[in-house]
Amino acid sequence: MLQDAAAVAEEAAALIARYVKTKPDARVLVATGNTPMPTYEALAQLKPDMSDTWAVQLDEYLIPEDDPRRLCAWMARAYVTPLGVTQVLGFDLSLSDTQRMCRLHADKIGTLGGVDLAILGLGPNGHLGFNEPPSGSNAPTRAVTLSQASLASNAAYWSAAPHGARAAPRSAVTVGMDIILRADTILLLVTGRHKRDILARTLSETPNPGLPSSYLQGTNLVVITDQDVTGSTA
Ligand code: F6R
Repeated sequence: MLQDAAAVAEEAAALIARYVKTKPDARVLVATGNTPMPTYEALAQLKPDMSDTWAVQLDEYLIPEDDPRRLCAWMARAYVTPLGVTQVLGFDLSLSDTQRMCRLHADKIGTLGGVDLAILGLGPNGHLGFNEPPSGSNAPTRAVTLSQASLASNAAYWSAAPHGARAAPRSAVTVGMDIILRADTILLLVTGRHKRDILARTLSETPNPGLPSSYLQGTNLVVITDQDVTGSTA
């Protein structure tokens, strides 16, 4: 059992580095949020050659294109730039037609051949990306309204940002469950006591739309957690 978030980061970084070594042009679906940040830092320390990989954006707030709090800006700071990734596939926020924005993003992912490695965090209500409950296994890439549970969890980093506190936005877009669940490998990173119950439910409940993360059970899933999550003291 891994002791803490730092150990989770090291193990996850090693897995990602091995993955891109065997598949140098891997299409990687990249979560932001707090959980994967130490992993991206640990990965940068390993200096893997990521230059032929793709960073595929998982989700995004519908806010002005130049707002530094956009998730694609966070992905650039935390993942793309430090890892020397040159190929980025993001939602085209210049489009005012969000349906078209989502369709184009999904189509481009399809044209690339789908996702190889999905790096995911776990929402407090079992959301994956911004696939909020209820989301079935075929939920497409689409615009969504964030739930209260997600707003509360996002508020921590949203209002902490040095760009003026205001409520986290409610409107967002997300890569669909249909694409996420078809990834070749899914790496689910879960750290902290507050994720204990939701991870237990994710792995034990019969897959159902009320808990989108439960559909991970049918995938090629690697879960990396710390002992705060499992409750183990070993
Ligand atoms: C962010 C994302 C979200 C987060 C989830 C957990 O791109 O896709 O689904 O992974 O909300 O967030 P943290 O890691 O901050 O607990």
